[in-house]
Amino acid sequence: MNTIDGLVPPDSFPLGEMTTAEFLRDYWQKKPCLLRAVWPGIEKCLPVNADELAGIAAEENTEARLISGTHAKHNWKVEYGPFESEDYTQLGEADWTLLVQDVEKHYPPLKQWLSNFSFLPSWRLDDIMISFAAAGGSVGPHTDQYDVFLFQASGKRRWQISDTYNPELLDHEEIKVLREFSGDQSWDLEPGDLLYLPPNVAHFGVALEPCLSYSIGLRAPSRAELFAHLAEWFSHSDDQGGRYQDADLTNNDLDASLGKVDQQAITRVQMLLNSSFDSSNELTQNPDLADWFCQFICAYRLSGAPEPAQVALGENEMAILLADAGVLYRNPWSRFCWRSDNNSSWLYATGMKIECPQQLAELICEPADTLNFKTQNILLDTTTIQVITTLYNKGHFFFENHA
Ligand code: SIN
Ligand code: CO
Repeated sequence: MNTIDGLVPPDSFPLGEMTTAEFLRDYWQKKPCLLRAVWPGIEKCLPVNADELAGIAAEENTEARLISGTHAKHNWKVEYGPFESEDYTQLGEADWTLLVQDVEKHYPPLKQWLSNFSFLPSWRLDDIMISFAAAGGSVGPHTDQYDVFLFQASGKRRWQISDTYNPELLDHEEIKVLREFSGDQSWDLEPGDLLYLPPNVAHFGVALEPCLSYSIGLRAPSRAELFAHLAEWFSHSDDQGGRYQDADLTNNDLDASLGKVDQQAITRVQMLLNSSFDSSNELTQNPDLADWFCQFICAYRLSGAPEPAQVALGENEMAILLADAGVLYRNPWSRFCWRSDNNSSWLYATGMKIECPQQLAELICEPADTLNFKTQNILLDTTTIQVITTLYNKGHFFFENHA
C-alpha cells in the first residue's frame, strides 16, 4: 500500500480550526458541518488509492459494490464483488461508483485513521468505507441512519443536502434511493475537505471528476436491535422475569367465544412487559446490563469474527515469545471496549470478557493495527501475560500480520 504519510494527519485533521468542544456542542448529532482543507495535500499521499481499492475489491472476502446510474434516469444498477478489471471497463467512463466497506480491516494500518476521531467514544466508530467514482458517479440521493464523516481524498465531488425531504423511495430491491430530491445546500468538495452529516439528513453526492471519498461511519443500535438482543440474553438467565398470570380470572370472563384472546388478556401481557421497565424490574435494572451491552456492542454490525488460534499458547510460552517479538498484530475483525466499577475493570472483545487493569485495557482498545510492547513501554507482568494469552488464544492477536 501507499506512503505512510497518508496515515499521519496534520494537526488540522479532522476539525481544522474548530475545537472538539465546539464541534460537539454545535454540530455532533445536530446539524451538518463542512470543514474545508483539514488535510491539505492528502491526494499526494493517499493511504489507499483507486488501484489499491480495486485490489481490495478483487478479494474474495470483501464487501464491495458497483453502483451505476443517475438520478435523472432512475436507472440504478447494483453489482456485488469480488470484481475484476473487466467489470470496470464494461461500465465505461462515467456514472458509476465502486464502494468497499471495512477497508481498515483489509488494510489494517488504515485503522490508525480512526484514532483521529477519538474525540468520540471509540465503540461508536464502525468502519472506513472508501468509494471511487467515475465522473457523474453517485449512489443516488438517500438518507443514512448513522452519523458519517465524508472525507474528500482526491478529485471533486458535489454534495447536496436537505433536512426536509419526501421519504418516498424508488422501487428498487437493492438500494434505497429517494424518488425525488432537491438540495437546500450544495458544496463542491475538494481534496482535504470533510463533511460531517448527522443521521437522517438527505444527501446526494455526485463526482464532478474521478474521485475518492473516505467515509468514516458511526454505529448506534436501534431500540429494536437492543430489545432483540436483550431478550435473547434474558432468555438464558435463570429468572425469566415472571410469567403470564391470570389469577384475576372470573367466571364472567369465560363466557367469551371459544378461542378468543380478550382485552383483559392483552392488558395482562402489557402489564408483564411494562414491568420490565419499572424501577424494581429484573431486566433494565439488572446489574449485569452493562456487561450485556458491552458484549453486544463489540459484535454489533460486524460482518466477520475472530476464530480461536489454531495452536493455543500457555502463559509461559507467551511470555517468551512476546519478550522476543515485542509486537502483536490485532485481528482486524476484533472490537474491544472496557468498563469499570469501583472495584474492578473488564475488557470486552468480540465474543468474550476478561478482567483487565484499566491501563492495559486502554492500550488494547487503541485503534491501531499493532500493539508494540517495546515502543509503548508495556510491562510484561503476570496480569498482562494472562490477559494477552487469553486474547491470543481466542484469536484477537497474532504474531504475524494476517491482513
Ligand atoms: C459515496 O461515497 O459515494 C457514498 C457515501 C454516502 O453517501 O454515505
Ligand atoms: Co450516505
